[in-house]
Amino acid sequence: MSSETVALGPTTMSNGGTALRSPAVGNKVTVVLGAQWGDEGKGKVVDLIAQEADIVCRCQGGNNAGHTVVVDSVEYDFHLLPSGIINPEVTAFIGNGVVIHLPGLFEEAEKNCGKGQSLAGWEKRLVISDRAHIVFDFHQAADGIQEQQRQEQAGKNLGTTKKGIGPVYSSKAARSGLRMCDLVSDFNEFSKRFTLLANQYKSMYPSLEINIEGELEKLKSYADRVKPMVKDGVYFIYEALHGPPRRILVEGANAALLDIDFGTYPFVTSSNCTVGGVCTGLGIPPQSIGEVYGVVKAYTTRVGIGAFPTEQNNEIGDLLQTRGHEFGVTTGRRRRCGWLDLVLLRYAHMINGFTALALTKLDILDVFPEIKVGVSYKIEGKTIPHFPANQEVLNKAEVEYETLPGWNKDTSNARTFEELPENAKKYVQFIEETLGVPIKWIGVGKSRESMIQRF
Ligand code: GDP
Ligand code: IMO
Ligand code: MG
Repeated sequence: MSSETVALGPTTMSNGGTALRSPAVGNKVTVVLGAQWGDEGKGKVVDLIAQEADIVCRCQGGNNAGHTVVVDSVEYDFHLLPSGIINPEVTAFIGNGVVIHLPGLFEEAEKNCGKGQSLAGWEKRLVISDRAHIVFDFHQAADGIQEQQRQEQAGKNLGTTKKGIGPVYSSKAARSGLRMCDLVSDFNEFSKRFTLLANQYKSMYPSLEINIEGELEKLKSYADRVKPMVKDGVYFIYEALHGPPRRILVEGANAALLDIDFGTYPFVTSSNCTVGGVCTGLGIPPQSIGEVYGVVKAYTTRVGIGAFPTEQNNEIGDLLQTRGHEFGVTTGRRRRCGWLDLVLLRYAHMINGFTALALTKLDILDVFPEIKVGVSYKIEGKTIPHFPANQEVLNKAEVEYETLPGWNKDTSNARTFEELPENAKKYVQFIEETLGVPIKWIGVGKSRESMIQRF
């Protein structure tokens, strides 16, 4: 049956069943994704769009993410909660692709509640998919032990956030993980499976101490608190897509170059942070995806280890780092800094098919007399059309730069594109033309107001 001939249901059929609505109709989700190595300013872009949204979803990752939102000079940081929850009209949804550390979730909510009124009633506005996997304290401890072992055995680690992300997605793939539906259904059965998994971890990591009884007691109290929030995620999002008109936003965590399949493996996270993760992490068909916005920082940063072709390990990198206050939101680590890399962005665009971009932190470039942009890579003297998969090859890539004139003017008060200095406009247009994607927003400061919207 073609999509045109599918019933527009849900309608009751003659046999008593229900015909599902065609994915070709219904509401579409708007997606916001990180296009570099994370910390592009996704939180701020989501906050802006969420002013007009009804539902804001997370579809992958866990509390390794750190998203900053600044409202009325108050700075909120979100790790597991969708940042859109700051809008009291929004329902926040944590999809099945997300991994949830329950103590982290409640701590985060309480910390942000202490900062302002916007999170009031958050427990009633949060829906958690019953298929989402749970991060236990021992996953986090194992993350730390694995990092230590990598350092001892290979002389270097991955630089993870130690939030248990690698271990919990490993448990999920090994089919020994536990999900929210297990926690809130039969606690005896949950306890048995938890004990099995904890004992597996103890045998894998003999130095790991797990107080199984104590952990179960804590988990029981979390189970009671979280139970009202846990729903069948597939049905929740299906209804949201096919009920009355709803504006649904998806907040990507981490970023394209940290994607488990497409990132700079092995220095990546353990989920799909590219557009495919939206379908698998929420349980929606591809036809339900509408706009896909890529968030791009006007230069490049990276936390942790791994290749970084345009890195500036010099006074330029230092200036970007200090002007941009480039410290990780989750771990407080200093971010490595370098020029914008259009090869990497072209690659992220091949995977995600961005319909438009948000270019953030343009104001940080205000003081540079000239600005370089990486436009191609050469390997052994030859320009390559693709982004290398292998780390050693990528480390050898020689970047070819275009040099653009700086603007030496403060842009932080600009509120329209026309108000930007001529050379700043040219910088924006150069990126648009090279990538062939329009830049819809330009960030010139931390606050909600410091965002130029062009169309
Ligand atoms: P995310 O993980 O992608 O949400 O980004 P982070 O919150 O980790 O890091 C982005 C940082 O840049 C935060 O401190 C934001 O407040 C800040 N920021 C976002 N957009 C802008 C901008 O346009 N200009 C400036 N100066 N800061 C910005
Ligand atoms: P947001 O959503 C920046 C990086 C870590 C490390 C690697 C693996 O704020 O952009 P993990 O703990 O996921 O196993 O760590 O991935 N990383 C991030 N870097 N921003 C993030 O998220 C990140 N999430 C993971 O620094 O190098
Ligand atoms: Mg961040």
